[in-house]
Amino acid sequence: MSELERIAAEIRACTRCILHRGRTQAVPGAGAEEAEIMFIGEAPGFHEDQQGLPFVGASGKFLDDMLGSIGLSREQVYIANVVKCRPPANRDPLPEEIAACSSYLERQIAAIKPLLIVTLGRFSMARFFDKARISQIHGQAQRVGDVVCYPLYHPAAALHQPSLRRVVEEDFQRIPKILAQADQIAKYEPPPQAEQLRLF
Ligand code: URA
Repeated sequence: MSELERIAAEIRACTRCILHRGRTQAVPGAGAEEAEIMFIGEAPGFHEDQQGLPFVGASGKFLDDMLGSIGLSREQVYIANVVKCRPPANRDPLPEEIAACSSYLERQIAAIKPLLIVTLGRFSMARFFDKARISQIHGQAQRVGDVVCYPLYHPAAALHQPSLRRVVEEDFQRIPKILAQADQIAKYEPPPQAEQLRLF
């Protein structure tokens, strides 16, 4: 059993927060174990809870279309969520639910070791960019620790707000270029300070 499968088994049996009581099944995540790109959404919705798979409803169809537009399929990436069980009536996940689930996501990231993490929506963004506003930082790749993070609007936002659709489409188109540079961005060391360069 791989580490990802072990994490998934733990998630399916998890009772760390109240969300386990209302779930049909948990949604650990899906995709390639050695994916270069990891997408992180918010939480399962109705269809995800039914099927045990991430992004299989309307947002998932849009995500599939966006992936296709840059020549990728969901089998080539890994898709997970901040919270692994559906919140009642699709409400926002609560801080204690996010906290209860966070070690699963950390372990998934450590197991996959993606070059690029694409966050979908503000809950996923907040995990890497504390207090940032998605309207200000979407579409700007930044290094966080040893991974490059690329915050995007959630696909559902694009479906509900037609004006955002174009923004999401454009941000998505930049993913291949960012991925190609991710290695360099992750290894980039700021130049040493002038004083350190003075040898004599
Ligand atoms: N929205 C999410 O954030 N995640 C899913 O898996 C489905 C919809």
